[in-house]
Amino acid sequence: MTDTRITLVTGANQGVGLQLTKELVAHGHTVYLGSRDLARGEQAAAGIAAVENASGGSAIPIQIDVTDVDSISAAAARIRAEQGRLDMLVNNAGISKTVDRALGSPEYRAHSLASNASLDEIRAIWNVNVFGALAVYQAMLPLLRDGKDPRIVMVSSGVGSLATNADPNYAYHSIYGPGYAASKTAMNAMALTIMIELENTDIKVNIVSPAFTATALNGFAGTESIEDGSREVVRVALLGPDGPSGTFTQWENTAISW
Ligand SMILES: NC(=O)c1ccc[n+]([C@@H]2O[C@H](COP(=O)([O-])OP(=O)(O)OC[C@H]3O[C@@H](n4cnc5c(N)ncnc54)[C@H](OP(=O)(O)O)[C@@H]3O)[C@@H](O)[C@H]2O)c1
Repeated sequence: MTDTRITLVTGANQGVGLQLTKELVAHGHTVYLGSRDLARGEQAAAGIAAVENASGGSAIPIQIDVTDVDSISAAAARIRAEQGRLDMLVNNAGISKTVDRALGSPEYRAHSLASNASLDEIRAIWNVNVFGALAVYQAMLPLLRDGKDPRIVMVSSGVGSLATNADPNYAYHSIYGPGYAASKTAMNAMALTIMIELENTDIKVNIVSPAFTATALNGFAGTESIEDGSREVVRVALLGPDGPSGTFTQWENTAISW
């Protein structure tokens, strides 16, 4: 059995997940680079080959669609066969909408009011961000129980904070809607259920938010570079065995109210 840290990152073929994968590989991790489209995962993994050579880490593309139970089970079976364990799960895959074009803030707000948001779109978002993350947790838990210093990182968002959004002065108060933002609130609720289930085990659980980062999720409107915006996700994913559990942080290790 290898001593290298074995990690699975979902939605790792682009954006924050890819940046995290690069940095974990640079720290010597063996990272299963999850991608719903295997060819795109293979392309992403090929792009970080230079990092692998320097660090001894590696990126292994793996097909995983978090809305497809069969693909999740197949991924778990493959990791069991190849590694016998999983040390860290990063539930990163996420979507913000289903319409296939960028929406500016006013248009996004108009599109996602409680009174008019599409229930089909809300269900699709929740299927990935909430039920997908929970399904991957359920499938990977037996592997994590056999892992070393196991940790689960839930990549959520500050826009999911109920306490923050209830404040009329919060910058994104007016765009708190039932789709993406509420899905991240629900993801945090799922994370709490996981934390409570695991509180008497050695498996640690953290929730983390990237900064507002230029990725496909927001039509590249984010104000932070991929490297800077992913920094807190990387910091939490690199916490050692003495690192905390039960945290929800964003940007420079700042706690977020649930
Ligand atoms: N960017 C920000 O400002 C920001 C802020 C706060 C939180 N976040 C969170 O950060 C995480 C990563 O987002 P990002 O900004 O890096 O966006 P991104 O570049 O769009 O990446 C999202 C990833 O999730 C994957 N994905 C979508 N649906 C999936 C499914 N059904 N199964 C498996 N993978 C799926 C995407 O795959 P495809 O490439 O195939 O679409 C992509 O790899 C998300 O959870 C997001 O909510 C982002």
